[in-house]
Amino acid sequence: MSDTNPITQDAVDSAVDAALAAFAAAATVAELKSARNAHVGEASAIAQLNARMREVPKDEKAATGKLMGQARGRLEGAYKAREGELAAAEAQARLAAETVDVTEAPVRRAAGSRHPLAQLQEEAADIFIGMGWEIAEGPEVEHEWFNFDALGFDPDHPARAMQDTFFVEPADRHLLLRTHTSPVQIRSLLGRELPVYVVAPGRVYRTDELDATHTPVFHQIEGIAIDKGLTMAHLRGTLEHFARQMFGEEAKIRLRPNFFPFTEPSAEMDVWQPNAKGGARWVEWGGCGMVDPRVLAAAGIDPEEYQGFAFGMGIERTLQFRHDINDMRDMVEGDTRFNQQFGGLV
Ligand code: DAH
Repeated sequence: MSDTNPITQDAVDSAVDAALAAFAAAATVAELKSARNAHVGEASAIAQLNARMREVPKDEKAATGKLMGQARGRLEGAYKAREGELAAAEAQARLAAETVDVTEAPVRRAAGSRHPLAQLQEEAADIFIGMGWEIAEGPEVEHEWFNFDALGFDPDHPARAMQDTFFVEPADRHLLLRTHTSPVQIRSLLGRELPVYVVAPGRVYRTDELDATHTPVFHQIEGIAIDKGLTMAHLRGTLEHFARQMFGEEAKIRLRPNFFPFTEPSAEMDVWQPNAKGGARWVEWGGCGMVDPRVLAAAGIDPEEYQGFAFGMGIERTLQFRHDINDMRDMVEGDTRFNQQFGGLV
């Protein structure tokens, strides 16, 4: 090549070497693209050399053109090769990052569990459904009339006193948190066609301090049956069946005379527990009796024509002596390890 040819072998080689070094140094496809811009693009050394093709003496044009063509060819080839390498490495990295190890143990999140009281309420209700009874409900914020008056509690009955009952303000609306499920008896009689056979499981409230044997919020299951010709024998048979289903075939019940304002006669019901931890024993389970004619009259039912019985027992107590739970606080603290002992996983 002559001295007047601006496109020298050295100039081309150094432009090509710089480009090849930049391609090799690019660590990603994006970096490679910007290296190509810098070393092959419009402002690059190679492009500037190319622009001087016009100055090349005529007889050297062919050889210089070939030199430039080879340079471009090398750059093209090097670019393609490096692009292939980088794309493959990037794909490999993506695959590695997205790998799922199907043999890996899943992260175990603590499962919630159904509360044993909720399960027991359902189990109790199911026993009655099995006998053709229905489930009834009433509000937890109840009117004083349903909770006390209609059930025959005198206006000055001690159960109404502030220290037993949560009244809801303002007092002149006569609302309270129901102290038992018995108001559902009245609601069922007023709202249903006779005969009535219903159970009402639900939450009740009393102003007790929380300790091992009391909670201010607890649960009862109430039952009432009103039909023609029902007697205390039906009451006894029903409760005995319930007790056997709840506590096992050896369970027996015993009725002891008692007083409730809404039943006459009334009884306290004990259940025989042959397998109790401390030895066989009778435990007090709930109250029951023949529905007082005054209660029937309050619900507009002729007591000469219809009679029936009612009963109510505590769900917490039932759970306690079925499973030997000594401290009622275990039932309200919400520790799922307690719940899970009863198999209530969800
Ligand atoms: N409601 C009563 C209580 O909480 C329990 C009770 C007694 C319910 C006698 C009844 C019944 O249905 O007949 O102490």
